[in-house]
Amino acid sequence: MRYKKHIYRLSREDFYQFLLQHQRGLELLSEGESFVEFALYEPIDDLEPLEVLTVEVLPPERAFRPIRVKNLMVLPPWLKPLVIRPGSAFGTGLHATTRLCLYMLQDFLKRGWSVLDVGTGTGILAIASKKLGAGRVLAIDVDPLAVEECMHNSKENHARVECLLAEPKDIGESFDLLLANLELEVFRRELLHLKRLFKKVAIFSGIYGRQELDEFLELLGQKPAKIKRLENWHCVVVKT
Ligand SMILES: C[S@@+](CC[C@H](N)C(=O)[O-])C[C@H]1O[C@@H](n2cnc3c(N)ncnc32)[C@H](O)[C@@H]1O
Repeated sequence: MRYKKHIYRLSREDFYQFLLQHQRGLELLSEGESFVEFALYEPIDDLEPLEVLTVEVLPPERAFRPIRVKNLMVLPPWLKPLVIRPGSAFGTGLHATTRLCLYMLQDFLKRGWSVLDVGTGTGILAIASKKLGAGRVLAIDVDPLAVEECMHNSKENHARVECLLAEPKDIGESFDLLLANLELEVFRRELLHLKRLFKKVAIFSGIYGRQELDEFLELLGQKPAKIKRLENWHCVVVKT
């Protein structure tokens, strides 16, 4: 973004008088014995600027990036940290299938929605849902180690996620949004169960290559709202 920067010079006495009246922020440029130079991003009535510069100001999202100092990470408030222990479960966020889900979640999840994460692994998607404003979040997996990791990571992230050892057929209710980062082989067995578990949106991931995508779409039997590809992995979003 471009702004006009107005540079002013006032005697010290006039400057402090001006400060009292102005009552807003300004950029102090230099303070001499008898004068003060300062800049404002709007003109002052009845005061001639020394010069007017056009300056490029980076939006805060570009100017303030995460900073790491040894084991400390400083983040701006619009970035949501996900702390995931590299344990024995799948889902540290490095894999393309997980990243695709994290991306789609930000496009489709609405505040307050209930979420079911099938095949939660470390719990990364369930925790992300909670951080993005989901209401109730249930995370299930058939691997007891994954359920343990999900519990550990949810606690670490202060995210209220219910982590359960279960598979889709054990779940008797439906959720606003379903996340399922699984494999085609699992989708072949589970897709019918999965389809009754969501009310609004489902995000399916873990589909590799064109051939798997074609088979998945045939199993699905409905037009997807969006398909996104990363490193030849596909993520399919369905809306009711
Ligand atoms: C590819 S990992 C996904 C982990 C994590 N959700 C992510 O996105 O990074 C798939 C997980 O699904 C689990 N899983 C496989 N079949 C399942 C089933 N029928 N029901 C529930 N979980 C299942 C596995 O144990 C594994 O933890």
